[in-house]
Amino acid sequence: MTSPTPDEIEAVRELACRLAHEAGAIQREHYETEIEIRTKSASIDLVTEVDHACEERIVGALRTERPDDAILAEEGRGDDRPEARWRWVIDPLDGTTNYAHGYPRFCVSIGVECDGVRTVGVVFDPLLDELYCAVRGGGAQLNGAPIRVSEETELGNALVATGFAYDVRRSAQDNINHFIAFVKSSRAIRRDGSAALDLCYVASGRFDGYWEIKLHPWDVAAGLLIVDEAGGRTSDLSGGPPQRSGFECVASNGKLHDAMLAILQR
Ligand code: IPD
Ligand code: CA
Ligand code: CA
Repeated sequence: MTSPTPDEIEAVRELACRLAHEAGAIQREHYETEIEIRTKSASIDLVTEVDHACEERIVGALRTERPDDAILAEEGRGDDRPEARWRWVIDPLDGTTNYAHGYPRFCVSIGVECDGVRTVGVVFDPLLDELYCAVRGGGAQLNGAPIRVSEETELGNALVATGFAYDVRRSAQDNINHFIAFVKSSRAIRRDGSAALDLCYVASGRFDGYWEIKLHPWDVAAGLLIVDEAGGRTSDLSGGPPQRSGFECVASNGKLHDAMLAILQR
């Protein structure tokens, strides 16, 4: 396997940024308007017509412009071919519950792997007009300016974030005990409703740490690379490499990682 050339990577980065902007424009246009909302795996797991419209725009463009690439997209339009060299992992609207309630925290997330290696990550928040972007080995940027994780070393001074899976009402593995433990040991905790933005906020230093369980590949495909490239640390709950599946996800500024893992392993 040969590494992708800088030109190949740049073409992927540019396309990912363009498609994130296009989908973000759809989100902005329909935000706080009357839209169709349905449920998926549970009564609290929503999907809107905007999730679908965003996915259709991104996947439609990729089919035309990159017909050889594999696509894994949350709402099912992708074609995840194992033989493909490039694989696009797409959350067309991360933060659907927020979107449906008019809470202004949601985004488009596009992660791209080459030969199974996270290579490009783009997350776009259309209301704040914030585009987070990272290329493996090239650092992470917010609207083109370099970003870095925070310098915080004390969990007691840290702002951390988490989330809960849609099976929270019926599963015993519900993240509640860990949530309580962090409420008691961090400065403050946020449950802001978009895993991709939570990761980007770790990357830019707004959050010092973040963890969640039972995420999916599209929630983390872009954000994990953005944290790594911003100088942070990402792992599973045992401190091993971060999972592509998103099932266990811990991200921090690095300095707080072991303290977070100690709580998460209780
Ligand atoms: C959800 C959000 C949320 C997280 C959930 C995800 P969706 O994604 O990222 O913050 O807690 O686990 O499923 O459904 O809005 O794309
Ligand atoms: Ca998501
Ligand atoms: Ca989604």
